[in-house]
Amino acid sequence: MDWEVFWVENYHIEGGVPLRGEYRVKGAKNSALPILAATVCRGGVYEIYDCPRIGDVFAMVEILNSLGAKTKWEEECIVVDSRNVSEFAVPEHLMAEMRSSVFLMGSLLVRSGEAQIHKPGGCKIGKRPIDIHISGLEQLGFEVGTEEEKVFCKGVCHGGKITLPYPSVGATENLIMAALAGDGDTIIQNCAIEPEIVDLQGFLRSVGFQVFGAGTDTVFVKGARGLKRNLGTPKMYFLLEDRIEAVTYMCAVVGTRGRAVFRNIRPSIINEVIKTFERMGVEVRSCENMVEIWCGKTLKSPGIIVTQPYPGFPTDCQPQLMSLCTKVKGLTTIREEIFESRFTHKNDLINMGADIEICGKNAIIKGTDFLRGKEVEARDLRGGAALVIAGLMAEGETVVKGTFHVQRGYEDLEKGLKSLGGLIEKKREKT
Ligand code: EPZ
Repeated sequence: MDWEVFWVENYHIEGGVPLRGEYRVKGAKNSALPILAATVCRGGVYEIYDCPRIGDVFAMVEILNSLGAKTKWEEECIVVDSRNVSEFAVPEHLMAEMRSSVFLMGSLLVRSGEAQIHKPGGCKIGKRPIDIHISGLEQLGFEVGTEEEKVFCKGVCHGGKITLPYPSVGATENLIMAALAGDGDTIIQNCAIEPEIVDLQGFLRSVGFQVFGAGTDTVFVKGARGLKRNLGTPKMYFLLEDRIEAVTYMCAVVGTRGRAVFRNIRPSIINEVIKTFERMGVEVRSCENMVEIWCGKTLKSPGIIVTQPYPGFPTDCQPQLMSLCTKVKGLTTIREEIFESRFTHKNDLINMGADIEICGKNAIIKGTDFLRGKEVEARDLRGGAALVIAGLMAEGETVVKGTFHVQRGYEDLEKGLKSLGGLIEKKREKT
């Protein structure tokens, strides 16, 4: 009986080597996704620079192609030609691949006055409903219907003032786009203020839309139904740097007690993380677009960390920090306030010798002297990155399976870590 052979990519990591050198941070996944979706708002040719070549972006590109856009990767940018977008329904199988396809709701409403998506299911880190998106669309005057997992939406935005019940990042971005689909002016209050939302506003303004206030809790959107549907000339846009990628690499450097310079990263957008590092005894030197970090052999616990919407401690850096805190002096409490089940990496860290106890939303980590290399499995994007960091901190070899989760959000993580001296290989292996 011939068994079917499946090939997977695993990371093989030899730990214990301090990471050193210089790293240039890439463009942000969480900017690329809403901005690629926003290329549908007006027909045109867009050149998006510093767009990371990661799984989630490839999934978004497939969605754009399925709607009738043409896309092409060039050396430094991705070119999206959205002039022939003619569909308004996102295929279910593509929706299932990536939650951020929900952004097409807003951009398709601007383009064609109607949109159809499938509810993006939950993921390992939480239920992640889209009720705030849907109630916001209804308050803006759109007709929204659901049938099983399908969500239909059509109409025009009649403008006015809406207040989000919670500063959801995705709902803020989606409703900013949807509010363009009308004649009226809209004020959205209690918005999320993440830097990626400011980047989306930057893109929308660069293609002729009037959006103001992103980065504050009140955003003003001018209805743009009168705006010509198609753009005359190609538009170039440079994406914001990926602050989560930057912090992930920084945790790897600190975890291995190394020293590195990070370029193309503004310290201002990772301020809460820098303060956390400094509380641990990490040395940080920074200027406008650079951060250098180094540390001695012993680090102390940062005490209590609570994940919060920006500018609080980012939930997307929580797993990486947990890995770091497994090998510092003292007790650390990490409270996950954003997602219900974002401790998926805990068991694998314990398997590597970490001392972690979960108590409701709190993870209590007792620092130990060393971690041992093990075979572990990534179960989500940031949890996977945390296991890679633990592997670099551990003694012996660690094999990280499930790397497709990691490749959804990091471009060539193993190459980047290798460029800093990390002993990490991505190997194609049979399962
Ligand atoms: C964005 O997700 C990011 N994704 C996430 O990054 C990030 O963790 C999150 O913001 C918080 O910072 C992208 O930008 C593509 P939310 P999003 O809406 O928009 C609840 C990563 O690792 N909620 O601010 O989905 C929700 O369940 C990813 O890069 C509702 O209840 O986050 C969650 O508990 C993971 N109803 C909380 O709000 C809604 O309609 C925050 O979600 C919407 C959200």
